[in-house]
Amino acid sequence: MEATVTHTDGICDNKRALLDEIITANRERPGALMVVLNETQNKVGYVSEPMQVYIARKMRVPVGAVHGVVTFYSFFTTQPRGKHTMKFCMGTACYVGGVPQLMEKAKQLTGIEMGQTTSDGQLTMELCRCVGACSQAPVVTVDEEVIGRIKPTKFPQLIKKLLEG
Ligand code: FES
Repeated sequence: MEATVTHTDGICDNKRALLDEIITANRERPGALMVVLNETQNKVGYVSEPMQVYIARKMRVPVGAVHGVVTFYSFFTTQPRGKHTMKFCMGTACYVGGVPQLMEKAKQLTGIEMGQTTSDGQLTMELCRCVGACSQAPVVTVDEEVIGRIKPTKFPQLIKKLLEG
């Protein structure tokens, strides 16, 4: 098996080749930076800080512009996500409807904070904006599935299922 070489900038040969491929295929398209970042998120699974610097250099745009896009859109992550992603809705109805309490429970049960992934790579927890299901508050999403009217007594079971499956 071929060894994967990681350079001092923190990007291994395989990822560098993939980034080069994505940049070459899209650099002339309108909105090229957004397209490249989207493709990177989809194909690599995240856009780390070293990758942001690399993309900026290759596309001749300021690193700040790349960083700005990655941090603005919640679709992007700077670390690999876990097998499952749970997002807690921070819209007003959900906030008032009990999402902060669910977040506290989730932190206790998983031992991680928002924006982190469990060490076994099973679950990532994030915040999100209103997903349009306000009448079902409190709402979380799990891997794009919207789950509403969550009862605090049932919530630990959901977390347990995600940590195990
Ligand atoms: S406020 Fe949570 S779905 Fe709208």
